[in-house]
Amino acid sequence: YLQKIKDKGTLVVGTSADYPPYEFTVKQSGKTTYVGLDIEIAKKFAKDLGVKLEIKNMNFDSLLVALETHKVDAVISGMNPTPERQKSVDFSNVYYRGKQYMLINKKDAALYKNIHSFKNKT
Ligand code: ARG
Repeated sequence: YLQKIKDKGTLVVGTSADYPPYEFTVKQSGKTTYVGLDIEIAKKFAKDLGVKLEIKNMNFDSLLVALETHKVDAVISGMNPTPERQKSVDFSNVYYRGKQYMLINKKDAALYKNIHSFKNKT
């Protein structure tokens, strides 16, 4: 399959560019370009394969069908491997696991200990 992609000279990646910071669009001088973590991964794959990259932007819900009908070679779209999706497609290993934190001022640390602290606060 990789040889097929090399032969056609283009890696076609499907994404839904509405999910920053993974994939989203920026307009620069009237031209729309795709940016984000997943786009960088796609670029690296294409580069390593020595082929051009074509991003196909579509609704998130269309991605798996596009993959199954070979309209795209791969999907990179911040997609989690749910059991339902795993029935039809083959997921890679996890490539990003986020750790997000909220922060508050130090002086309020005693006020907000956990999620329940947000009850009845105005
Ligand atoms: N991570 C969520 C999922 O797998 C949402 C992904 C949405 N991605 C996107 N490019 N709109 O369902």
